[in-house]
Amino acid sequence: MPNSQPTQIIILGGSGDLAKRKLIPALIDLYTHRKLPSVFSVVGLARTPRTSEEYQTFVGESLHTHEHGHSQEDIETFCSHFTYVSGSFDDVQSYEDLKKAVLAFDEKQGVCTNKLFYLAVPPEYYEVIFTNLHNSGLSDICSEGNWSRILVEKPFGSNLETAQELDKTLSSLFTEEQIFRIDHYLAKEAVQNILSFRFANTLLRSPWNNEHIKEVSIKMHEEIDIQDRGNFYDGIGALRDVGQNHLLQLLALIAMEEPASFTATDIRTERAKVLEKLVPITSETVHEQVTRGQYEGYTTTNGVPEDSKTETFFKFTTYIDNETWGGVPFHIEAGKSMPERSVVIDITFKDVASGPFETQTCNTVENKVTLVLSPEQTMHITLNAKQPGHGYQLESQALSFACKKAGEEIDAYEKVLLDCIMGDHTLFTQTDEVLASWKFITSILENWETVPLQTYQKGTAGPV
Ligand code: BG6
Repeated sequence: MPNSQPTQIIILGGSGDLAKRKLIPALIDLYTHRKLPSVFSVVGLARTPRTSEEYQTFVGESLHTHEHGHSQEDIETFCSHFTYVSGSFDDVQSYEDLKKAVLAFDEKQGVCTNKLFYLAVPPEYYEVIFTNLHNSGLSDICSEGNWSRILVEKPFGSNLETAQELDKTLSSLFTEEQIFRIDHYLAKEAVQNILSFRFANTLLRSPWNNEHIKEVSIKMHEEIDIQDRGNFYDGIGALRDVGQNHLLQLLALIAMEEPASFTATDIRTERAKVLEKLVPITSETVHEQVTRGQYEGYTTTNGVPEDSKTETFFKFTTYIDNETWGGVPFHIEAGKSMPERSVVIDITFKDVASGPFETQTCNTVENKVTLVLSPEQTMHITLNAKQPGHGYQLESQALSFACKKAGEEIDAYEKVLLDCIMGDHTLFTQTDEVLASWKFITSILENWETVPLQTYQKGTAGPV
């Protein structure tokens, strides 16, 4: 098995929210399903001074808080694989301390281990961490046949310019092979299913273009507000938090051409081609095409300034300038504190009401494909049938089916970690995708301040 070599997972930001809520639970699931290498260790680096024993207690407690249904015995043995180093991301000495801990494990095991560095930190630390990991020699590969990989969370930069600079630093220190840029949406089962749905169904392959499709809508609604993430969220906002990455990746999967093969390179290349063709928003189009909102009470959250203009909701319409999609509007929307949690893609086909089927009512006669990605994975196709009775009135009927129920699918972070250990890049974004999506988002950000910030009540569907 390619993932059976001894491996160390080094979490920079080892006691942060991401580590607690996503990484530690994902790791214990991989551990209990025997998907981690049999020799492994997890090293957490964070500011708070604590011993490795105290960190193990912290890990155990975070598993209890999140109720992952593991036995006490499993939790205890799992926690014994954790060690802790306290330090700052911008302090060279901290990397020396980390190196000591990492090398001590290699020495104890008498092997050279693979190293996986997970940056579970706010994006402003990326640059300094990349540089320190490299300069300290921590990320050096200790023997031929071993690897050293870097997992980076989004957002990768805050606009096109900063993303380009970050990319330059990263690629001057590490090879593209070593870099895994995470967009956890790509690792969701339902999201991966988009490709099978599109390319493995003859029914859908040929009408998937501007000749037949009228519009596409992609909405990500979250019931939760920003919770206790004020410090992180306020510097970012909804557009950078989920628009530049998750939602544009969904758009790319809906609009990309069929890849030559289902390999990482071919899939990522096709996704990038679509993102590169997004028509930028300009100062002339921004008012028609973009809405931004903030839920009432946002500015009273811990860590958020009273006069914050950060958006918790956005909506924009974009177009793809290529032969297949020219003229088809893609409506993209996301918001916090919405009535319910849902991620839904609607593909509406053109109205075919003409000739003998001209309806006497105002009903439109269009087909719609709806892909519900969350909370449950379901698909619906609306078709037209004759209304029972006299005449030829049409009525719309839906064909629906559930692909996977909530809770049945493999967690996205488990996939991200496992694929990185296996060296499979398919579910990670490559540099040209990231830069193309930033190029488009930056065209909105350049005119962002001119779009009025509308407030909306919590629990409603955003600004009217
Ligand atoms: C993260 C965002 O990337 O995605 C969060 O930073 C958001 O703000 C989360 O809540 C949503 O992910 P999921 O998997 O819960 O839909």
